[in-house]
Amino acid sequence: MKNAELLRRKDAATPRGVGVMCNFYAERAENAEIWDVEGKRYIDFAAGIAVLNTGHRHPKLVAALQQQLERFTHTAYQIVPYASYVELAERINQRAPGRSARKTAFFTTGAEAVENAIKIARAATGRPGVIAFSGGFHGRTMMGMALTGKVAPYKVGFGPFPGEVYHAPFPSPLQGVTVEDASKALQHLFKADIDPRRVAAIIFEPVQGEGGFNVAPPEFVRMLRAVCDEHGILLIADEVQTGFGRTGKLFAMEHYDVVPDLTTMAKSLAGGMPLSAVCGRAEVMDAPAPGGLGGTYAGNPLAVAAALAVLDVLESEQLIPRGAELGERLVTRLKSLRPRVPQMAEVRGLGAMVAVEFRRADGSPDPEFTREVQNRALERGLLLLSCGVYGNVIRFLFPLTIPDAVMNEGLEILEDVLTR
Ligand SMILES: Cc1ncc(COP(=O)(O)O)c(C=O)c1O
Repeated sequence: MKNAELLRRKDAATPRGVGVMCNFYAERAENAEIWDVEGKRYIDFAAGIAVLNTGHRHPKLVAALQQQLERFTHTAYQIVPYASYVELAERINQRAPGRSARKTAFFTTGAEAVENAIKIARAATGRPGVIAFSGGFHGRTMMGMALTGKVAPYKVGFGPFPGEVYHAPFPSPLQGVTVEDASKALQHLFKADIDPRRVAAIIFEPVQGEGGFNVAPPEFVRMLRAVCDEHGILLIADEVQTGFGRTGKLFAMEHYDVVPDLTTMAKSLAGGMPLSAVCGRAEVMDAPAPGGLGGTYAGNPLAVAAALAVLDVLESEQLIPRGAELGERLVTRLKSLRPRVPQMAEVRGLGAMVAVEFRRADGSPDPEFTREVQNRALERGLLLLSCGVYGNVIRFLFPLTIPDAVMNEGLEILEDVLTR
């Protein structure tokens, strides 16, 4: 089967709303490489949108999945429970930031984790309001969309969204938004739109993913914690994209001297199997009544087996420090190219969560150049993802297991396409 024929069949059989970036079809994948149905090889700097910190088909994940396949694949945890779910919760509770007693519940997608974090926060506080941030992305479900701070393409045509959701600006030096501006805007929200005593939660990404890899400044995160403490609001860190070693720590919040009340996680948690989680302070997590949380597939045993293997591999292969080192290498390389690439406005990130933003000479966002870089890279066999509210940012999400030779090959292609 050839790519062109599959593309024709796809256009006839599936809706355009499921937008697809590549016009080739995957045949197989190994660690940081993908081969298409025509045998062309791609270096994967996208990792299934930040899912494959442990690479494609890590042998330990494959073995764990095979073992679980031989035992059982589904019982519905809420009907017949299994030990692995409890073990994974225990391991996440141990590793999540903070010292107080923690509990964890599992779900399937990142959006579902976000939905449930809001449910838990509302149940725990008895309040309706939620504050999120411009440029934030929290998923494609109704509440996920309501919280997301980017209209096109995520929210167009899909409203009305759940009420009592408010947006405040996220700090961004390039866009001239300081932490002080963000703090004033939040206080203004409390004056103009909602009484802080009616706010259940503030949800934020420690590093905005889809929004352009904007790193939350430490004083901003401290300010959020202080506002939450003052008004009895719960702080939710959405670590769906930042978690499991991407930022040079297991969780991005380890970079901050602030502990969130709830953390959402998904993506690299289970290395390609659909699994998400909400972890938080035990008394907050216990607010919903029995039966209020869960789902038919929530905490699927195959996905849980994969997640236990991910935690083992991150540790045994020292992938977290390796990620930090790879990120540094990439940042140094990108910065060295800056004099030759006038469109390069900023290189930023945390650990291996690195991005480069492109702007025109007049300072306006340059999505055309960004697309050109992405397309040229793809022609040369390097898979890159864009992001940012204006689509003018390239983000790098290579597996942390990527061999040096493949990483270097990817960086050579990147240099060529940036400087051509
Ligand atoms: C920070 C963040 N939250 C939530 C989501 C939604 O996750 P999912 O696509 O698994 O529903 C994403 C996905 O990109 C994300 O980056």
